[in-house]
Amino acid sequence: MEEKYKRIAKLLLNSKKCIALTGAGISAESGIPTFRSKEGMWEKYDPAVYASIDAFHKDPSKYWTIRGDFIRNYDDYKPNPAHLTLAELEKMGVLTSVITQNIDGLHSKAGSKQVIELHGTLRRILCMQCSKEYTAPNVPDGTPPLCDECGGVLKPNTVLFGEPLPAKALSEAQRECSTCDIMLLIGTSTVVYPVAALPKLVKENGGQVIELNLENAFPFTDYFIGEKAGTAMPQIMAELKKIKNNN
Ligand code: APR
Repeated sequence: MEEKYKRIAKLLLNSKKCIALTGAGISAESGIPTFRSKEGMWEKYDPAVYASIDAFHKDPSKYWTIRGDFIRNYDDYKPNPAHLTLAELEKMGVLTSVITQNIDGLHSKAGSKQVIELHGTLRRILCMQCSKEYTAPNVPDGTPPLCDECGGVLKPNTVLFGEPLPAKALSEAQRECSTCDIMLLIGTSTVVYPVAALPKLVKENGGQVIELNLENAFPFTDYFIGEKAGTAMPQIMAELKKIKNNN
């Protein structure tokens, strides 16, 4: 495996523009459940019933009931070595941006600056009636939190099933994918569109995809590392620093 890490480190150092696309798997080692792995959220709850915008309008308490099973208090979670390594790669000028499907804010907490949050963030909670903004509260048990201004129901600033992605973030992500030569694809099953189309966009524009996952989820991966992200990323960084020190 060391040879592979060395090869990946060389690819990153020689890349003209390297980006990362991450999913729930990169936060698994921070104690946040994934969605489709075993024990994942959608193994326990039907997302159509609990996490779609239609269901939320009908009965917001369903969403707020399961939210506690996912992330009860936004501030309780810390970045793991995979997030920290991506932030260090950005500081070294090796990585240009992180595109993430995750709503946990851990890339920003790790120190990454160029973060494109395609599915929004739990950091901000909005009133559905008057749009007043709140910072992430502790998640109530089942009863949806109400706006202290107008009594409207509060909803996290995240994209539920059936909602459009933030247009600016999506076009930024598409621009990054069509102009990079390397994408680090970390911890995502690449099944939810439009994000799942992004690694293909890299390939269509002549880029290469390096996938870090426990399963080979993307069929057109150029280099696959079947290792936990929290283990693989620091090893790649260690090889990268050895190469830099020898040059
Ligand atoms: N290191 C690397 N990969 C991991 C790890 C780990 N420690 N643990 C799990 N994985 C991989 C799994 O093998 C799986 O392929 O992470 C992936 C997680 O896939 P999903 O649970 O489907 O999460 P994600 O791809 O982020 O889902 C996309 O679906 O429900 C929506 O909006 C939600 O953003 C989410 C989107």
